[in-house]
Amino acid sequence: MFEYPWTSLMKLLDEIADIGRDPVSGGYVRYAWTEPELALRDWFRDQATQRGLALEDDGNGNIFAWWGSGPDAVLTGSHLDSVPHGGAYDGPLGVVSALLAIDELRQRGVKPAKPIGIAVFAEEEGSRFGLACLGSRLLTGAVAPDQVDLQGVFEPVGRRQDILDRIGCFVELHIEQGRALQRPVGVASAIWPHGRWRLDFAGEPNHAGTTQMGDRRDPMLTFAFTVLAANKEARLRHAHATIGRVQVAPNATNAIPSSVRAWLDARAPSPEIVDELVEALRAKASERASRDGTTVTMTAESITPAIEFHIGLRDRLARLLDAPILPTGAGHDAGVLSAYVPTAMLFVRNPTGVSHSPLEYAADEDCEAGVTALADVLQDLTC
Ligand code: GLV
Ligand code: MN
Ligand code: MN
Repeated sequence: MFEYPWTSLMKLLDEIADIGRDPVSGGYVRYAWTEPELALRDWFRDQATQRGLALEDDGNGNIFAWWGSGPDAVLTGSHLDSVPHGGAYDGPLGVVSALLAIDELRQRGVKPAKPIGIAVFAEEEGSRFGLACLGSRLLTGAVAPDQVDLQGVFEPVGRRQDILDRIGCFVELHIEQGRALQRPVGVASAIWPHGRWRLDFAGEPNHAGTTQMGDRRDPMLTFAFTVLAANKEARLRHAHATIGRVQVAPNATNAIPSSVRAWLDARAPSPEIVDELVEALRAKASERASRDGTTVTMTAESITPAIEFHIGLRDRLARLLDAPILPTGAGHDAGVLSAYVPTAMLFVRNPTGVSHSPLEYAADEDCEAGVTALADVLQDLTC
């Protein structure tokens, strides 16, 4: 019986704990192709090199580290970028666990009959350029380079069929992001369909002190009504709607705004419910705008369809790990990959359910159970 150096998981997370951490919020600000995220990539390359893995950049911002070469590879991994002031686990847990799962397989003396790869996908959160899972979408061709504006920061090459051809399956490990998992490790069944819409409210800028209340065309009012309506329409349908980002012009205390721009994130168990929710909100916001003397437009920025993970792979992992199967409302690169290669996900328990927040947390023992589970899965799929 070998003794696995479990402290390594905490040590690896500790090594990157200060990278991109905001001292005030305690959360991570690790946007794609910014200094902290580039430092994390260097750290990953160094970790992969220490393990003798062969590094490959795909020209889309994604990094692969390979143990072995050739087709039918079993790919794992996740992402290192974050939402604004996000937690330590969303993304990095999957990358760190992948490195440690390889260590564990080696300690077990496993000689995989197929290559094993670790992927680090770029801009999974869409925090910098607005499109979530940008790296995996470019790799697979789900979006073409000319459909995205990376503002000259990076010039992607687009679909890499040669890499896709080498991937036999993909298994992403991720912290669970609700309170749906009561055991240390679970297996994903599906991702709710979801999307992002830009809302533009326009009115008449004017003086806060002198404009009669009845004379105002205040887009902030239409916006405020729309936020409440989004919440109500989502609750009515057992769906989720969030307006978490807003820009106001001119953003002055003593001026009625000329415009408000906000973003809606809407998710539901089925695409029909997402559509219904968005259309109901569009109607309510427009009706309110006509009463406020303002205008509102809603523009879809990205739509992600419902994802059903590969049933055979899902059931195989659930049997192997004796793990529960559960859906999620969170988006993942695994969702993008699933349209191209058999794909599954492992979730590690999140005791509070908090995520996309500095308070995101998973217990050390559960993270360790995640590494063991991932090692078991990689062994099962490659031997
Ligand atoms: C990614 O974490 C998302 O669900 O937005
Ligand atoms: Mn996330
Ligand atoms: Mn994530």
